[in-house]
Amino acid sequence: MNQQELSKLCHDMSLEEKLGQLLQLEGFFFQEGGVMTGPEQRMGLEENEKEMCGSVLNVWGANNVKRIQDIIMAAQPHHIPALFMLDVIHGFRTIAPAPIAQGCTFDPKMIYEGARVAAKESAVSGVHVTFAPMADLSRDARWGRVMESTGEDKYLNSMCTRAMVKGFQGENLADPYSVGACVKHFAAYGLPEGGRDYNTVELSNRTLFEDYLPAYQAGIEAGACSVMTSFNTLDRIPSSVNEWLMRDVLRDKMGFNGVLISDYNAIGEAMKHGIAEDAKEAGKLAMKAGVDIEMMSHCYGSSIKELIAEGEIDEELVDEAVMRILTLKNELGLFENPYKDASEAEEIAYILCKKHRDTMRKLSEESFVLLENDGILPLKAKGQKIAFIGPYTKKQDLHSVWSIIADEKDSKSLADVVPKMFGGNKYTFESGCNTVEVDTVFNGFNSTVAYEYDTKEAEEAAIINAVESAKKADVVVMPLGEHRLQTGEAASYGELKLPEKQLELLNRVYEVNHNIVVVLFNGRPLDLRSVKSKAKAILEVWLPGTEGASAIANTLFGKNNPSGHLSMSFPYSVGQVPVHYDSFSTGRPKGEESSNVKFCSRYIDLPNTPLYPFGHGLSYTKFKYGEVSLDKDTLTMTESDVIEVSVPVTNCGEVDGTEVVQMYIQDVKGSVVRPVRELKAFERVELKAGETKIVRFAITEPMLRFYDIRMNYTSEAGMFKVFVGGDSTCEMEIKFWLNR
Ligand code: GLC
Repeated sequence: MNQQELSKLCHDMSLEEKLGQLLQLEGFFFQEGGVMTGPEQRMGLEENEKEMCGSVLNVWGANNVKRIQDIIMAAQPHHIPALFMLDVIHGFRTIAPAPIAQGCTFDPKMIYEGARVAAKESAVSGVHVTFAPMADLSRDARWGRVMESTGEDKYLNSMCTRAMVKGFQGENLADPYSVGACVKHFAAYGLPEGGRDYNTVELSNRTLFEDYLPAYQAGIEAGACSVMTSFNTLDRIPSSVNEWLMRDVLRDKMGFNGVLISDYNAIGEAMKHGIAEDAKEAGKLAMKAGVDIEMMSHCYGSSIKELIAEGEIDEELVDEAVMRILTLKNELGLFENPYKDASEAEEIAYILCKKHRDTMRKLSEESFVLLENDGILPLKAKGQKIAFIGPYTKKQDLHSVWSIIADEKDSKSLADVVPKMFGGNKYTFESGCNTVEVDTVFNGFNSTVAYEYDTKEAEEAAIINAVESAKKADVVVMPLGEHRLQTGEAASYGELKLPEKQLELLNRVYEVNHNIVVVLFNGRPLDLRSVKSKAKAILEVWLPGTEGASAIANTLFGKNNPSGHLSMSFPYSVGQVPVHYDSFSTGRPKGEESSNVKFCSRYIDLPNTPLYPFGHGLSYTKFKYGEVSLDKDTLTMTESDVIEVSVPVTNCGEVDGTEVVQMYIQDVKGSVVRPVRELKAFERVELKAGETKIVRFAITEPMLRFYDIRMNYTSEAGMFKVFVGGDSTCEMEIKFWLNR
């Protein structure tokens, strides 16, 4: 349809039809032979209201989507097709590494490929829009949803968000296998006080614009068709009813004119926040804020008609929202083809196909971060006695809790793959203990926990057996980690340690064998002090996805040389949190960690620096950086002016490898304080053993802009420092000046 026909359609619709378009319901409202069930009564839906809804979430399967689409279109006077939306966060059925791991690849191209796989599998299963990417900047590891983010840095976040939007949406939404992207959660959901999910967010507008909005902006500029509101308050106003945030900032300043959808019941929660007396007031505030789709609450449907009659709301606000929704449906081609790409035959052909598995394995391999290695890795391919001891040894569910469609039967465990892939060694495989204590209760979806040892006695016996195996081994590989249900939504923790039983297992193995390699499965930075003191190597594999086990095996035995670099700092202790590299000097900087100056910004009991900094990542080879040079040391204010930075990087080790060369810039003085350094560019550089390449970056004036004392986004003349290296602590620096 063209825009004129869409406008005519909107004009011809009754108010009841229009309000239906604003409502998004869970798929369980349409279950086979569905009747008016509890949720509907709880939501106060009228008898035929559910079929009037404009979109449905959490439904998949070509035939299931087609069935529900038919029900909805038949019931509606203008037979308007519904949107089907689902959380395809990092893979549909062939699961990619969690986004925090994808951020560690520093490889937007591979992230794009992973999103393409997710788009294709979800599109043939009837999905039209995914509730991803999550672009929330995350600096607080206590927050469970850091696993869904790509970390603490706004530039890396922006590059990853852009790659995911492009990967999901392809060139055109109507193209086969394209699904719409939904950038979330707007805004600054990643900064809840205390790291406690859904909690209050307090930050200055300057920090909001400087640090938290760039990644959402990148997603919008990449063409994201939708944005989702966040649960949190900003400036003590819940985002879903925050007119300034949604109209002045998102629409006017950031230029977003797509569909704005609330998070789950977030409009209804305005009452819990204490900013709306009732559903009617919540609906009024959200409509004024310009939220188009109300996900799983009924404030619009129950009150807008009355608000219009009372002159509280102009019907044109409703028309605006309806037009944005109809426009999205039109861009997806749903009026011509309401089923879009849903195809049972193609579900069979594409889901979990070899090409998809290979893509996700490569993404996994690139996401692994070698945190420590004294040379014990890579393992020898033959002639060794290797004991695998840890709760992740035999686990197949290596994906995050946001893998709604995943089935662990699609994956193999380390115990399955290692002997087949590297059969020249003698292996033993034992879990040693459960991931979490037997009586741990998790609630919410996907919340079943399989315990290998269902009593404390059985677990103690397992540890004793494991220690016996460790005694006889040349090397002990310990796959340890968080349970997947310890991460994700509503999974905030006040402590950042591995589960006690796993630390006990590590300690007791260490008593009999010091050749320990820890393979770490987790969805957030953890306090690894006790692991670091006992392991000769630590390989961070996060939540690696469907092909995780084979990717880990390839890495342990050197077929894959790890190249990941941390997307988020690992604190010494939760007491340091939030800790991030792009902090400010303060008036009393501590300077050297070794300095014992008293009156400076420091902890008495901890260092200021994290245990592992942003950008950190080792390799099986060694990289050496030559002198950094600039082709000139003065930049003018003209946008086209460029300073070229170049640095020779040499692989001076014995094996080929890939280095992530990072360039940071410090604005030494500004009209407001400026971070001690900010990531401005990075490049993955493949180097054969002995090879040297000159790596080049460009510095331009727009890269130096920030929100100045008057909140103008501009650059300021003065001196700048450039740091180039393999992590955020790189010291090699060179100066340049920006002149008026
Ligand atoms: C959840 C999440 C959001 C998700 C939505 C739909 O509460 O906050 O990220 O997309 O509901 O499942």
